[in-house]
Amino acid sequence: VFRLILSTYTVSGLLCSAGEEVVRLQELEGNTVTIHTGLTGVQSDAHILWFYGPENADIKIVNSQIIRGEIITDYYSERFRDRLQLNRTSGSLTIRNISREDSGVYKLHIITGISSVWSFSVDVYAPVLKPVIRNQAEKHSVTLRESCSPLCSVENGKDLSLSWYEEKERISSISSSDSSERLYLPLNKTNPNYSTYTCVAANPVSSQTTKLNITELCYNSTGKCYHYHLDLVFYLILIEL
Ligand SMILES: *[C@@H]1O[C@H](CO)[C@@H](O)[C@H](O)[C@H]1NC(C)=O
Ligand SMILES: *[C@@H]1O[C@H](CO)[C@@H](O)[C@H](O)[C@H]1NC(C)=O
Ligand SMILES: *[C@@H]1O[C@H](CO)[C@@H](O)[C@H](O)[C@H]1NC(C)=O
Ligand SMILES: *[C@@H]1O[C@H](CO)[C@@H](O)[C@H](O)[C@H]1NC(C)=O
Ligand SMILES: *[C@@H]1O[C@H](CO)[C@@H](O)[C@H](O)[C@H]1NC(C)=O
Ligand SMILES: *[C@@H]1O[C@H](CO)[C@@H](O)[C@H](O)[C@H]1NC(C)=O
Repeated sequence: VFRLILSTYTVSGLLCSAGEEVVRLQELEGNTVTIHTGLTGVQSDAHILWFYGPENADIKIVNSQIIRGEIITDYYSERFRDRLQLNRTSGSLTIRNISREDSGVYKLHIITGISSVWSFSVDVYAPVLKPVIRNQAEKHSVTLRESCSPLCSVENGKDLSLSWYEEKERISSISSSDSSERLYLPLNKTNPNYSTYTCVAANPVSSQTTKLNITELCYNSTGKCYHYHLDLVFYLILIEL
């Protein structure tokens, strides 16, 4: 389940150079993304082509040329449908509502007298979900004097990391490239005091923070873990012989 970010924004100020150098872009799913070329005045009669592919840019997605004095721009791809927009002045390509499936290699060919090629690698990430903090001690709370041990977890994803902060300092962290397993990170402190602890889930384009409320998590009066009153009742059984 992905949350859609409905606001749009444009990445700006990216430079690139002709040749085989690849410019890497990391983007948030749902955004409108412009692949900037850094060019400002492409020759008005240039033949401009964009190619795309998950690994190799071998599918033609845009073809723009001047035919008998008229600009003809074709957008071929069914997958991008009406989400593409070419700027002929800069050669830049805008992709609306980008999805993780649009990750891959984008290649720009500009043919004037000579032919120039630019390559871009685009990684699209889903926004991370808010991490959840629960008390690990809960499950064996029947033991007396069980300590409070907060456990933070979040649904996994590409390049995701999960960290605990004490005040502003990161005290532990975990990351995993396997995007199927949920990520777990215990706050490795028994009976944490009232310093401000936060759990942060982050990927290269977004992050989410959950504050630990020790009172609520560990001293919940109706909760099961910390304040545990054991009323012992002794029965004296007299057996008359
Ligand atoms: C096309 O790109 C040029 C140069 O970057 C820019 O000045 C212009 O505003 C762009 N046009 C559109 C329609 O975005
Ligand atoms: C954006 O794309 C997703 C599929 O990737 C689609 O479900 C959604 O309706 C689109 N949103 C807009 C505003 O076009
Ligand atoms: C938790 O803390 C103990 C002692 O402070 C240490 O030995 C252990 O390696 C820590 N575990 C993790 C997962 O950080
Ligand atoms: C909380 O614990 C940290 C480190 O464990 C310590 O530096 C800090 O002084 C403690 N704060 C209180 C109020 O006990
Ligand atoms: C922590 O939780 C308790 C109980 O739900 C609440 O009264 C208190 O305001 C919370 N503290 C913070 C800092 O959110
Ligand atoms: C505290 O206890 C109440 C009642 O059992 C429960 O609804 C609430 O979720 C608990 N809060 C926490 C943080 O465990």
